Amino acid sequence: MANVVILGSGGFGLSLAVMADRCGNHNVTVWSKFQSEIDEIRTHGEHIHKLPGVPISERIALTSDISCVKGCDILVFGIPSNFVRNVAKLASPFTDEKMTIVNTGKGLEEGSLKMLSEVISEEIKTDRLVILSGPSHAEEVARCIPTTIVASSENPEASAYIQKAFANDFMRIYLNDDVKGCEIGGALKNIIALCVGICDGMGYGDNTKSALMTRGIHEIARLGKAVGANINTFSGLTGIGDLIVTCTSMHSRNRRAGILIGQGFSPEEAVEKVGTVEGYFCCKVAYQLAQKLNVEMPITAQLNEVLFNGGDVREALGKLMNRPQIYEEF
Ligand SMILES: NC(=O)c1ccc[n+]([C@@H]2O[C@H](COP(=O)([O-])OP(=O)(O)OC[C@H]3O[C@@H](n4cnc5c(N)ncnc54)[C@H](O)[C@@H]3O)[C@@H](O)[C@H]2O)c1
Repeated sequence: MANVVILGSGGFGLSLAVMADRCGNHNVTVWSKFQSEIDEIRTHGEHIHKLPGVPISERIALTSDISCVKGCDILVFGIPSNFVRNVAKLASPFTDEKMTIVNTGKGLEEGSLKMLSEVISEEIKTDRLVILSGPSHAEEVARCIPTTIVASSENPEASAYIQKAFANDFMRIYLNDDVKGCEIGGALKNIIALCVGICDGMGYGDNTKSALMTRGIHEIARLGKAVGANINTFSGLTGIGDLIVTCTSMHSRNRRAGILIGQGFSPEEAVEKVGTVEGYFCCKVAYQLAQKLNVEMPITAQLNEVLFNGGDVREALGKLMNRPQIYEEF
């Protein structure tokens, strides 16, 4: 049994809290920056906006007091990527070197182009940072639907500890030491899911979806290779595994936002309607990173045009289809 503090009371934070409480028999505390969010969860017994239909047990402590971090064994970040640095700054004074820090957020930091593991490491002094990533919709994790994910760390003892703490009959956890590969795969699959959604919204079919997913993982892997990731990671759960689940499920907010864009809503309207759409932000950062590292990412480049330069979706697709005809390279 461990003392687990989860930062973020959104869909994923709460789903992990429910799982850790029910299957792991851990002492679980969930922190939210917003007292109103906590009050609402207690009033309804569930988060009616982020995880409807999943009861949040009274055993799970809810607080907006960040000092709850002090003395815990496992500190989990369940925070959308844009806010990870600020929350890490808030939590930092209450952390210690024995704590295992876990990041579940998927994205890259705007401006610095950094991965979230780098962002957290800059704010919290630790050699026990673990990335939990892979195909794991909150709606299914919270309902004990069999799920497989990856615990990735440069510290094998820390990732093995998290594997043991969170694995159960419904959650199988593999180990991996390629932190960069896991993070790039988790962050960039949202870009491809937005593109798949756009094509769904325009009425295109399964051929288009398969093309985007297959060529998508190749360009993600190319960027991964350029930042020093292991290319094999992209054929695993945090690469193609997460890409499949995000591109094919209506749980995916990125895909749902894409569908709205494909139906004619502006990107801003789509993001406003859907909520947390991390692919929107990640696309800009990934495009900038690809340019900086001189990596060819045609799908990301076209999405960047559509999202930020007023590009037309049909024109963007036309440009992808009319690129020079080449050998299929891997
Ligand atoms: N939802 C999933 O199925 C899932 C699965 C795996 C990983 N993730 C990752 O987990 C992270 C969180 O996703 P989510 O689905 O829980 O998001 P969410 O939109 O459901 O919840 C976001 C939560 O973050 C907190 N938050 C919002 N703004 C904040 C701010 N300015 N400062 C501090 N906290 C703030 C709030 O508690 C809010 O409820 C994301 O990076 C996502 O990629 C999500």
